[in-house]
Amino acid sequence: MTQGSTKDRYIRIRGEQATLGMYVHALHCSWMDSPFWRQSFLLTKDADCARIRESVRHLTIDLHKGRGPARIAAVEPMMADTVRADSSVARPARAHRRKPPTDLERAAAMAERASAVIARLFDEARLGRAVCSADLTPLVEELAEATMRGNAAIIAVTRLKDRDRYTYIHSVAVGTLMMGLARHLGMSEADIRVAGMAGLLHDIGKVRIASAIVDKPGTLDPAELAQMRRHPDLGHDMLLDIADLDPRILAVCRHHHERIDGTGYPAGLAGDAIGPFVRLAAVCDVYDAVTSIRPYKRAWSPHEALARMLEWEGHFDPVILRALIASLGIQPFGALVRLHSNRLGIVVEEGDTPTTPIVRTFYDVPEQRRGTIVDVATADDPILRAERGGYWFGDDWPTLRSEVMAASPPPAPVARRPGTDDSAHQGARPC
Ligand SMILES: [Fe+2]
Repeated sequence: MTQGSTKDRYIRIRGEQATLGMYVHALHCSWMDSPFWRQSFLLTKDADCARIRESVRHLTIDLHKGRGPARIAAVEPMMADTVRADSSVARPARAHRRKPPTDLERAAAMAERASAVIARLFDEARLGRAVCSADLTPLVEELAEATMRGNAAIIAVTRLKDRDRYTYIHSVAVGTLMMGLARHLGMSEADIRVAGMAGLLHDIGKVRIASAIVDKPGTLDPAELAQMRRHPDLGHDMLLDIADLDPRILAVCRHHHERIDGTGYPAGLAGDAIGPFVRLAAVCDVYDAVTSIRPYKRAWSPHEALARMLEWEGHFDPVILRALIASLGIQPFGALVRLHSNRLGIVVEEGDTPTTPIVRTFYDVPEQRRGTIVDVATADDPILRAERGGYWFGDDWPTLRSEVMAASPPPAPVARRPGTDDSAHQGARPC
């Protein structure tokens, strides 16, 4: 392939022209709409070509790194808009095709529909109607299907945030996270659905608490906190009226605020007394709560949330928390990772997406030695896997980690994401 000018190197084509072997330089849509987390990559899978064809209108390909389109098609896209405007006589009129929704759009629409279903169920429960879990079965099926499509759909659902509808959206997010985590852990399809139903219903008891407390735009006083902490028992009592409800759903509703060290509520359960579904619920509940915008705190980023949750010793089952991190594909700040370039580095900043943070590299694996400290955008040099600092550096790891994190290498060439205002930081745990 010849190395020509930039003009010859990049060409814009229609999404429907994407084929194997092309190197995608840029997709012409926002990353929120993109069906991929990466902007630039080689098309090596039929499934990826199909996703582009069905959900991306235009893209730019790099002819130095991959193949181009067929000759006739290659000319057409450069002038596609002009030709269309001028050749209505020469060309048969084509019916306007609506752009099909991307995976992320579908996930966002699903989350909207799901939160409306939950809002209706909660409203009816508030009016005294018995909760009917069967009303949620179609929703659980839809969420189960979404979790089968991988972590992108799960992250998209947890990205939907709305202060005014927090309880409903939070219920959908916890249900979706629990299903994704259950799937990651290899649970059966039946158990994945139990996890989803448990997540959707875990906070149902909040309908029995005064909305002035549930929606209070500030920290709760001790009396209000005591009221709020009744919601697991109240919800459990409401669900007891449902015939044949899986006992694991009841357990999640009553015990999702328990902690492994016994300092949670309402029963102060500890260790093995806390069942596996409750452990899933505990991590998913807190992860979604701390990454949500509340009237009294800013949302933590996914990296920050997971890093802080790892520090809360005794709160969660550490194995389940590690599984959540793996299932989301999001590394916490401070995590040691290996990059595609075979360097080890530490996650230090947010990148373009939750799965492509900035990593501060400091160690060359093939050379087995320390290298220059550099901040790397993992959108360009992807993370291969998480690594254990103790395995690589033994007892020196804590000191080395602090040293690398305190370094000030040149900034990585990526834009910071908005909404990370440290001045608004509050570290309160959810109640
Ligand atoms: Fe709760």
